[in-house]
Amino acid sequence: MIKDKLPSSFFNPVSILGAIIAAIASITLIFLVILTQTQATYNVYMDVFVYIVVPMFLFMGLVLISAGMIWKRRKQKKNLAASEKSVFIFNLKEPKTRNSIIIFVTVTILFIMSTVIGTYETFHYTESNEFCGKLCHKVMLPEYSAYQLSPHARVNCVDCHIGNGVNSFVKAKVSGIRQVFHYLGSNYPRPIGTPLEGLRPAKETCEKCHWPQKVYSHKLNHFKYFLRDSANTEWDIAMDMKLGPSTKLSGTSRGIHWHDDPGVEVQYKANAKHDTIYWVKYINKKTGVEKIYEDEETKKSSAELALLPTRTMDCMDCHNRPAHEYRSPSFYLNNLFATGKLSTSIPWLKKVAMDALKNKFSTTDSALTEIRNRMRTKYQNKYPLAFQTYEKQIDSAATIITNEYLANAYPEMNINFREYPRNIGHLESDGCFRCHNDKHKTADGKKITKDCYNCHDFLKQGTLDKMTFCDINNSVKWLHPIELEEDWEKCSECH
Ligand code: HEC
Ligand code: HEC
Ligand code: HEC
Ligand code: HEC
Ligand code: HEC
Ligand code: HEC
Repeated sequence: MIKDKLPSSFFNPVSILGAIIAAIASITLIFLVILTQTQATYNVYMDVFVYIVVPMFLFMGLVLISAGMIWKRRKQKKNLAASEKSVFIFNLKEPKTRNSIIIFVTVTILFIMSTVIGTYETFHYTESNEFCGKLCHKVMLPEYSAYQLSPHARVNCVDCHIGNGVNSFVKAKVSGIRQVFHYLGSNYPRPIGTPLEGLRPAKETCEKCHWPQKVYSHKLNHFKYFLRDSANTEWDIAMDMKLGPSTKLSGTSRGIHWHDDPGVEVQYKANAKHDTIYWVKYINKKTGVEKIYEDEETKKSSAELALLPTRTMDCMDCHNRPAHEYRSPSFYLNNLFATGKLSTSIPWLKKVAMDALKNKFSTTDSALTEIRNRMRTKYQNKYPLAFQTYEKQIDSAATIITNEYLANAYPEMNINFREYPRNIGHLESDGCFRCHNDKHKTADGKKITKDCYNCHDFLKQGTLDKMTFCDINNSVKWLHPIELEEDWEKCSECH
């Protein structure tokens, strides 16, 4: 009889319920593990069950068994005390005592093992890109999709987002749990606000793989643009990006990566989005020289400044989109032309596509149909001759453009290149011009320079039939594709 084999304290409703739950959970777990190992396709939800939900039930079952037994024991003891027969006999020959010891030891070992393995697997699982990127697919899909096209597609989300150490681990899990609730309640911001609060400093993330002492000397950028005229005229610019120091007859410049040189520190105070910078402090740690630059247009009183947090500039103030970049229509259309995916022989294609992408779409589905419709309508109304000749090509171009749009904008999350600007450069958002705009000045009038040739030289520029060149270490004078009035301040006014 089973009653003779198990300790009497097991026979109480709570422990029996616990045993049933634990048994069902164990069988389910074995079944699911076999299933996940044999299944060819990967399923995130299955992993959530295997690593989180089912082990939670198993754990609950085991807790219930023990709780029931303790409770029953106490009750039995009380009864015994009442009848004054409280003599505990510890006799290994007694089958009940033997069985209860065997059960106790086995269950404890199983429990410890499953807890250790379970915790390890659960931990690993919550650190995986699938967990970060796919589980909350509505929320994180944009980042996950953009990430797979980035130079960091082989770097795990957690390597940049969490960093090493127990402290950051605990913080991440606590905020993770909060985020799961926001996700379930569907009350998360769209888009998620940036800059992210509490992102680990670059020293603990980026600098594990890249280090500021490593000098990236110069970099050659070769951009191809296509103008909005009937011929989609190509306009090329080759630029020498002065990442590291350079020496010329006119003197030595320190280069772009100088901001992060271990010998200097650049601090700033800004608005919440960090797109307006009020106050910049430059500290030379070796000489002790300090300079404070203030924006003359948005000048704040010292009381107002004291309330704002001070941020020390690091990699992420410029490389703010290292793994999930959302690019502008102008950028990806230029790339589609440059790689031959769109043909420059379709008249006005760049212009028509730019116009079609100008106004936002409210949903992915509406973008899927509307981009094509807008393009067709524009051609029919404005360039009917081109439409007659190229209708088929225009339709297939629309499909390519729509796909590219969907890789760079996520209407449901309100994500696009304006919401998540890229701080490298200054064309469509202010980027470097947030500080380098000739408006940030010291008390004695020194400016953070907007001098174009401080950051890059132009080695080649113009249309294919009218290109100007110069040798390296020199620069041709910058020329805008169409003549600009004198009084412009920022490229982003128009672009
Ligand atoms: C190479 C480092 C790096 C990797 C890898 C990375 N991120 Fe990020 N991520 C960042 C930085 C830096 C920001 C901060 C942007 C800011 O504050 O302006 C950020 C911001 C975000 C944001 C806030 C919204 C946004 O788009 O800016 C989300 C959500 C996010 N990351 C999710 C992910 C997910 C999911 C993965 C993996 C699929 C991932 N990240 C991989 C560096 C990284
Ligand atoms: C786990 C290692 C790792 C971490 C962490 C990491 N990177 Fe990288 N990063 C790489 C590798 C590897 C490459 C080269 C990829 C290639 O050339 O395809 C790279 C490339 C880059 C590039 C050049 C991209 C390009 O288009 O050529 C930049 C910029 C960069 N990383 C910045 C960052 C920043 C900023 C962070 C922190 C937010 C960071 N990285 C974190 C490994 C890492
Ligand atoms: C002041 C802004 C700024 C800061 C701060 C900054 N970078 Fe850069 N970085 C740039 C610019 C601009 C480029 C050139 C980008 C381009 O032309 O595509 C660049 C290029 C790079 C590249 C590519 C080099 C190559 O030759 O392809 C890497 C890698 C990189 N940065 C890593 C870092 C890391 C790591 C940090 C932090 C220690 C950092 N950067 C800090 C502005 C910055
Ligand atoms: C938060 C403000 C800030 C931002 C943003 C910023 N810089 Fe700077 N930058 C400074 C300050 C301050 C100096 C030093 C001015 C001085 O000499 O006192 C500086 C100096 C430089 C220099 C060195 C000039 C020399 O003397 O050789 C270069 C090059 C440069 N920045 C490029 C960039 C680029 C490229 C970006 C954008 C990717 C950028 N900066 C973004 C604040 C900023
Ligand atoms: C503080 C440094 C800095 C200054 C000053 C600066 N630039 Fe740039 N510029 C950059 C960086 C960084 C990029 C981005 C390269 C990239 O996208 O990889 C860039 C990109 C460009 C591009 C290519 C546009 C693009 O993003 O496709 C042009 C053209 C250009 N700059 C012209 C100018 C002109 C003209 C001036 C002077 C009015 C100027 N720049 C001043 C840093 C600077
Ligand atoms: C007053 C408005 C205005 C300002 C300011 C302006 N642009 Fe432009 N830009 C234009 C117009 C208009 C075009 C022509 C568009 C076309 O034909 O595709 C253009 C075209 C360009 C192109 C080639 C087309 C393309 O695909 O982007 C580049 C590169 C460019 N501008 C860079 C800059 C830079 C860099 C700055 C700042 C230093 C700047 N522009 C400032 C209006 C402006």
